[in-house]
Amino acid sequence: MTTVHRGRVFHIAGAPVLDDVVDHLVYHLDGALVVSDVGIISWCGAWADLPVEFADDPVDDHTGCFLLPGFIDTHMHFPQVNCGDSYGGGQLLEWLTNCIFPSEARFADPEFARGAAREWCDRMITAGTTTGLIFGSQFPVAQDLLFETARDRGLRIIAGRTIMTVGPDAAAPLLTSEADAIELTRQEIEKWHPLDASVRERALQQVAIVPRFSLSVTPETLGALGELYDDYRDRGVYFTSHLNENNRPGTGEIDMVKSIYQVDSYLDTYDGRFLPGSKKGGASLLGRRSVMAHGVHCQDRELARLAETRTSIAHCPTSQLFLGSGTMPWTRTTSAGVNVAIGSDFSAGDEWFIPQVLNAAFKVHISESGDDGLSLHPAVLLFLGTLAGARALDLEERIGNFDPGKEADFVVVDPSRWNQYGNTLEWGSRPADPVLERDAFLFTTLMAMREVTLVETYVQGRRLRTSQWEG
Ligand code: GUN
Ligand code: ZN
Repeated sequence: MTTVHRGRVFHIAGAPVLDDVVDHLVYHLDGALVVSDVGIISWCGAWADLPVEFADDPVDDHTGCFLLPGFIDTHMHFPQVNCGDSYGGGQLLEWLTNCIFPSEARFADPEFARGAAREWCDRMITAGTTTGLIFGSQFPVAQDLLFETARDRGLRIIAGRTIMTVGPDAAAPLLTSEADAIELTRQEIEKWHPLDASVRERALQQVAIVPRFSLSVTPETLGALGELYDDYRDRGVYFTSHLNENNRPGTGEIDMVKSIYQVDSYLDTYDGRFLPGSKKGGASLLGRRSVMAHGVHCQDRELARLAETRTSIAHCPTSQLFLGSGTMPWTRTTSAGVNVAIGSDFSAGDEWFIPQVLNAAFKVHISESGDDGLSLHPAVLLFLGTLAGARALDLEERIGNFDPGKEADFVVVDPSRWNQYGNTLEWGSRPADPVLERDAFLFTTLMAMREVTLVETYVQGRRLRTSQWEG
């Protein structure tokens, strides 16, 4: 038995490259999304064209609401769930030391971590974030709680303990020895990653190897992580870290990495070239299941290497605004052939709701200086928040749009719950041209919708419930 979800449908069909995304935008004013009882999309199209084989199936009527693919957040921090809008008195490194390291240390307490895991999953569900790539807690007990809670709720997550072997005094509770860093990561993979290919096909929870950034580890750690990744790479384990975020001269992240490692580029440290002079010291951590957060200040050859290795960038404009990290140059980055997806980077990004992160992306790129400023098409924004994320996570065969055969991850959005949004749709002036009218609807939807309009969240066809529903 299938279920027919009826509503206004938007998605990016197929598997377009960025330049072709607009041509792949699909809109059905009165649409239908047909979902099988095992959560697979059987059909998507105009309600009027619903195939006769589904005519007698139950209908979930969302008339007046939009049906969109679930949002994919490619960069977020679990142990920062309680840190939104924390005042650090400076940029990245001050904020980490003054606000974040002390907060992350609290996850050593299992009861604290239990509440945080519940809150985390609630927040993903209410934000319509059906998939998240997550920097986890340093403490295995907290990671177990995150994975268990996500599993019980039916959320799709990829997470890994945030690895730190060196840092300032404030980070002391978060540090482990080199040996423990590798052993705890290996244990997490063995416990939570679906190592068996047949299980992985439908798995919702997977594991990533996550050194916090090059300043939190050493050449020894990076070398050992390269070996560890080589042990598991062919079984779908992920890699993620931060790259080229803060370029304050001398004392900022990028200059510190270059001076401590004596490398030519920050990316070299993740690419096995972490020895002085960027000499090769181990295996590369880059690849099609690797995601680098930020990439705001990349050199051309770093972008070329990301593209060559199919490593994606998690673009985090709300975070870059909050920490004064600058703006990722859109045209230079994407024209280098790098897949760019979106990330909230909560809590450096002070916004969970991916459409609001896309809203920030639109604003920062239209504000790029001179000829670099550009008005991103709403189809590109939708792509960033959905299909590009699936591509970054090597999950494009399974999620990211409403192509038949994919898993039914979607959200239901009710414009009447937020006047500013509902009124613009209803009363705002509209282009007469139907294509421009479609684009205007999508733009208003992505820019104006707020979390309160997000009324239902589905993963693999199952409606997800927050902890309010627990008995
Ligand atoms: N670089 C290292 N750690 C962090 C973090 O927690 N947030 C951000 N935005 N950048 C980082
Ligand atoms: Zn981050």
